[in-house]
Amino acid sequence: MIIKKAEFIISNTHVAKCPQDGKPEYAFIGRSNVGKSSLINMLTGKKGLALTSSTPGKTQLINHFLINDEWYLVDLPGYGYAQRGKEGRRKIQEIIDIYLDEREDLTCLFVLLDCRHEPQEIDLDFITLLGESEIPFAIIFTKTDKISTSRLNENITHYKNTLAETWEELPPLFFTSSEQHKGKDELLNYIESINKSLKINLN
Ligand code: GTP
Ligand code: MG
Repeated sequence: MIIKKAEFIISNTHVAKCPQDGKPEYAFIGRSNVGKSSLINMLTGKKGLALTSSTPGKTQLINHFLINDEWYLVDLPGYGYAQRGKEGRRKIQEIIDIYLDEREDLTCLFVLLDCRHEPQEIDLDFITLLGESEIPFAIIFTKTDKISTSRLNENITHYKNTLAETWEELPPLFFTSSEQHKGKDELLNYIESINKSLKINLN
């Protein structure tokens, strides 16, 4: 799929104020600083579309971007950012929880994980919760330019083994580098295949 058009539509703190036109929606979630906003910019080819920062905690709202007039990419706030303080973390968690609970247009949630790190409890707990809530999701390993291929393979194997302890079947896995524009075609093709299956089901 080629992205011909990508436009910012609206930022919200609550799902009730999100677009109500029923278009399929693909959201990016993960810990602060994992690279959610950078990935949206890389996929759309628009550098300043989603706001990025080297300081964690940049995205604090639910941000909708309309793609090719047909579907949405959604940039969500990062979870678990310690320096936000207890109250700040609670507020962000509430935005995320209500969005996941109530957003019927959410077609697939992409959980971003930094490929450099060992499996972290906060991410594993979040993934378990998605299973319990039956939210369709896929995993994206980000920042692959930051480590060697052999290290990447080791880390991915470790992650797969950890996931296999709780999951019979692994979710789709993607590998990206926003810096080196890697993983773009794979992700966009995956989204396109889901969009197509939705159209077939609607007909
Ligand atoms: P929050 O909005 O705070 O939750 O963060 P985020 O997940 O949206 O992360 P963001 O895209 O703002 O990126 C955080 C930092 O990581 C920035 O300094 C980016 O330049 C850097 N970064 C993101 N993706 C990559 C990547 O693929 N490779 C490298 N080397 N750096 C990256
Ligand atoms: Mg962000």
